[in-house]
Amino acid sequence: MAEAVVDLDAVAHNTRLLAGLAAPRAETMAVVKADAFGHGVLPVARTVLAAGATWLGVTSIAEARRLRDAGITAPVLAWLYGTGDDFAWAVRHDVDLSVSTPQHLEAMAPGAAVHLKVDTGLTRNGVAWSDWPSLVARAADLERRGALMVRGIWSHLAAADDPGNPSVALQLERFSDALAIAAKAGLEPPLRHLANSAGIVDVPASHYDMVRAGLALYGVEPIEGVVAGLRRAMTLRARAVNVKRVPPGTGVSYLHQYVTDRDTTMVLVPAGYADGVPRQLSNRGAVAIGDRRCPIAGRVAMDQFVVDAGDLSVALGDEIVLFGPGDGAEPTVEEWAAWAGTNPHEILTGIGARVPRTYTSVR
Ligand SMILES: Cc1ncc(COP(=O)(O)O)c(C=O)c1O
Repeated sequence: MAEAVVDLDAVAHNTRLLAGLAAPRAETMAVVKADAFGHGVLPVARTVLAAGATWLGVTSIAEARRLRDAGITAPVLAWLYGTGDDFAWAVRHDVDLSVSTPQHLEAMAPGAAVHLKVDTGLTRNGVAWSDWPSLVARAADLERRGALMVRGIWSHLAAADDPGNPSVALQLERFSDALAIAAKAGLEPPLRHLANSAGIVDVPASHYDMVRAGLALYGVEPIEGVVAGLRRAMTLRARAVNVKRVPPGTGVSYLHQYVTDRDTTMVLVPAGYADGVPRQLSNRGAVAIGDRRCPIAGRVAMDQFVVDAGDLSVALGDEIVLFGPGDGAEPTVEEWAAWAGTNPHEILTGIGARVPRTYTSVR
């Protein structure tokens, strides 16, 4: 009964802004993994492509399949899978594949277009630094024999959202060394890419030939305190399904962890942790009813939570904004993340499958 309203104009604005920062040197990949960070992959993919993104980035081959099944023909890169995945499908459907281990390179289907991922310091995915020289030598050999095509070399930043973090300069240096090692082996692919959202905003040296925009596309500023001018795309809203006046001393929700201290109005919101409202928001978070912020009273349950509306006049069916753009009284997704002790990515991707996504666009 909650609804996630996605402002596609905001997504388009953010895409244009980010692509503008990258241009003219670099093109822009829109990272639409995890159902476009919970916003709905197909409407978002169509919007970003119309607004200037030229590539789409996903994790799994199944996510790439969803794009191709919907008739989206733009270049796609997929980057997370085991060695036994259906690489032949990817080749048949023009989906580029990341290679992060020597074993993946050997498992690639004939004709694959690959982006070799080097671990420059994140220590997550990517070819281990010690394996890089032999991997690029082998990839160059396979390319010479026509077995595959190396279209890209790439890596991922660990801490570009933390300006001044020394890891950024070290990763830039490593990436440059990795490119030199590859060039010596005969590989100078057209797409070198390193920057995520924070890199796009704050580290021009990371832009290379393509940038990969994730969080910022959805309107969350990637660096705290730095305003790039993004617009938050998702509003999570619901309607009051029960309203009751209660006296002081009333215990609210499971275990009565909230007890009223006055006559007040309790409003029931039909969204719970199954919908992505973190339980950590119990007795901690807030929502907006009209132009007022109202605290969450007591435990967030699986399907519902209660809000203390004080003396605000609330009727059954009134709109409640759980989080949104932050133009009015509503909390932002960043505030929700702070209350829940997590990041905005987890809040956005955690919005449950039973919450319908609806779309607004004035175009
Ligand atoms: C490999 C890779 N590149 C780019 C991104 C986009 O990162 P951000 O959301 O910080 O822009 C992600 C997302 O986590 C990623 O996994």
